[in-house]
Amino acid sequence: MENENMESNESIIKVDNLQTSFFTHKGEIKAVDGVHFDVPAGKTLGIVGESGSGKSITSLSIMRLIDDPGRIKGGEIIFKGENLLEKSEAEMRSIRGNKISMIFQEPMTSLNPVYTIGDQIAEAYQIHEGTSKKEGLRKAVDMLKLVGIPSPERRVKAYPHELSGGMRQRAMIAIALACDPELLVADEPTTALDVTIQAQILRLISRLQDELGMSMMLITHDLGVVAETCDYVAVMYAGKIVEYADVYTLFSNPKHPYTVGLLKSLPRHDIDQDELEVIQGMVPRPDNLPEGCRFAPRCPFARDMCHERLPDLEDLEGGNQVRCWIHTDQWDGPEVNVKDDYGSAQSSTS
Ligand SMILES: Nc1ncnc2c1ncn2[C@@H]1O[C@H](COP(=O)(O)OP(=O)(O)OP(=O)(O)O)[C@@H](O)[C@H]1O
Ligand SMILES: [Mg+2]
Repeated sequence: MENENMESNESIIKVDNLQTSFFTHKGEIKAVDGVHFDVPAGKTLGIVGESGSGKSITSLSIMRLIDDPGRIKGGEIIFKGENLLEKSEAEMRSIRGNKISMIFQEPMTSLNPVYTIGDQIAEAYQIHEGTSKKEGLRKAVDMLKLVGIPSPERRVKAYPHELSGGMRQRAMIAIALACDPELLVADEPTTALDVTIQAQILRLISRLQDELGMSMMLITHDLGVVAETCDYVAVMYAGKIVEYADVYTLFSNPKHPYTVGLLKSLPRHDIDQDELEVIQGMVPRPDNLPEGCRFAPRCPFARDMCHERLPDLEDLEGGNQVRCWIHTDQWDGPEVNVKDDYGSAQSSTS
């Protein structure tokens, strides 16, 4: 049975050596290749990284929603002390949308077009709480109110296509939160929306997370969003975590050259966009990964050792971690301050 006396510093979910691959005619594509992280109870972990780094496949693996030709090959996903990878499909169905809920990028693909918003919230609630339809609909009105949908008594009867994009995303959040989940997984929950609505929705998610005491995994490629909403951050690159840190340290003292590159390519208002430094080169294709550190081909500090051997994720102070030779005693190059030296190293290698 579940342990209700979780200490505040305990993890709600602990992912250990997660490996998820797609088996295609071109061979095995290691989309998630030995990922480790945990989400402390009541906190928000941001997962960032460029397109194709494995963020969505990580979150879908947690929900056990990987379809053919994909397969979770190994590792552990410990949710409140139990390994989700050992659960039956029936057990997973009772966990999904109940203890763990997910919000997707595009609400139209996850809302059912032929049912009203109210019915869909009521259904989520009824299935997991075993209540009557009437109670379910009452809950639906409450939930629509909670997520800031005006005239909720009227909107429960609306169909998804009758709502604007922002309202649909709010409805999605209402469904996801109807069963009072302990963990909310939000995968790019606002990218389909325009910028002002994005900010409102993120603020809403963040406020509800706080009020309801949920833990959250927020997947985004927007570091600005991370700074505003997350407590911890995992930076993913080509299927692996390259840096894990509390949000303050990640922004003030990033350790991995890739993290520094991401931070430098953050759009800012105080500089000319033309001066935006972007990371040179491209993310390697998962069916053609370089030997050694996967970021080495783009890294301004890379030396032979980086191209030859993959570094481990090293533990740093305060539970933070980094996967980079520079931060090991095996580093055979000159002393480097990744954050301060990135720009000059980049211009001298280009
Ligand atoms: N159905 C599939 N078949 C084959 N390969 C896949 C499939 N789905 C995902 N992949 C591979 O897994 C890798 C990781 O994909 P994922 O969707 O997790 O990336 P992401 O970090 O979420 O990117 P984005 O920011 O674009 O959402 C991709 O590079 C892709 O090649
Ligand atoms: Mg994705």
